[in-house]
Amino acid sequence: MAQNSTTNRQILLASRPVGAPTAQNFALAQPAIPVARAGQVLLRTVYLSLDPYMRGRMSDAASYAAPAALNEPMVGATVCRVAASQHPDYAEGDWVLAYTGWQDYALSDGTGLTKLDANLAHPSYALGVLGMPGFTAYMGLLDSGAPKAGETVVVAAATGAVGSVVGQIAKLKGCRVVGIAGSADKCRSAVEELGFDACIDHHSPDLAAQLEAACPQGIDVYFENVGGKVFDAVLPLLNTSARVPVCGLISQYNATALPDGPDRTPLLMRTLLSKRIHMQGFIIFDDYGHRYPEFVKDMGEWLTQGKIQFREDIVDSLENAPQAFIGLLEGKNFGKLVVRVAND
Ligand SMILES: NC(=O)c1ccc[n+]([C@@H]2O[C@H](COP(=O)([O-])OP(=O)(O)OC[C@H]3O[C@@H](n4cnc5c(N)ncnc54)[C@H](OP(=O)(O)O)[C@@H]3O)[C@@H](O)[C@H]2O)c1
Repeated sequence: MAQNSTTNRQILLASRPVGAPTAQNFALAQPAIPVARAGQVLLRTVYLSLDPYMRGRMSDAASYAAPAALNEPMVGATVCRVAASQHPDYAEGDWVLAYTGWQDYALSDGTGLTKLDANLAHPSYALGVLGMPGFTAYMGLLDSGAPKAGETVVVAAATGAVGSVVGQIAKLKGCRVVGIAGSADKCRSAVEELGFDACIDHHSPDLAAQLEAACPQGIDVYFENVGGKVFDAVLPLLNTSARVPVCGLISQYNATALPDGPDRTPLLMRTLLSKRIHMQGFIIFDDYGHRYPEFVKDMGEWLTQGKIQFREDIVDSLENAPQAFIGLLEGKNFGKLVVRVAND
């Protein structure tokens, strides 16, 4: 069913997954569209962002953010249009960045809304290169990773929302950039379209040997997006004083137990000590929210100058959000995953 003006399609979190999420963890509800009262706006979703952190919200394990509530719409950032306004600061038709979740319509009193330029060529970029993922790449690389010209930067999930921007900023800073991605096609894109120096498919049986060959001077910055076997291949190649911004560990998000095999913590600790490696986890808005204006300025300029390319993977219709999200955790997306909820 397409978005309409009588029902509010909502994708609810029906149950908490154990291991990989399935379609049964979600349910479709279709209540009536709410009505804006004094001081409120009614928002109509045009784009919904799908992001790896949502797997964490589906769980009630202790984390840096509260879990999504059962039988409520799944949480998520959206680009919306104001469908009706009883709020002095908003008019019908305005574009806003919001956090209204997996549904067609939601009410807001204006808290947390960001007005978007009505003439944006790509309003959905507010969920990607000009939004949270782009900001994550920018701060994680430039502040925590602190790359210097001539150094080697490695990033996995290299064609994704964060990784693709990390690699391109590192190129702008004069680094050698090696990507790691999940298919030959993604690797080709990282080199030919994003300008990386090399890219390796993490499904290759000789991942470690290929990575070593692509990094003849070792690795100075490893931007960690995935963990697991990719990190195992990276660890021996880290140079003295390497920086490792720990942004995400997507290969572990569906795990229900620690990985098989020997405990590698002693090897990690010995490497951190002997090579004096700076390894830093960060949560983008908690740690860097105050620096958002710097990012908006720099990224806006780079995009205008054509220095950053950004690929979106657009999925049509809200009902397809669960399957698309399940695919994100399996590497099925190619670029920033966005659901086009309405055809504005
Ligand atoms: N710390 C923060 O504040 C923050 C903010 C935003 C994002 N993040 C993290 O940044 C990372 C990238 O996020 P994103 O939004 O840019 O997602 P994305 O890269 O657009 O999509 C996820 C990608 O992860 C890779 N992947 C999925 N399962 C994998 C597995 N088992 N092993 C290896 N790779 C796997 C796949 O790429 P391939 O097919 O290429 O492997 C998939 O396309 C995630 O870990 C996310 O949690 C952190």
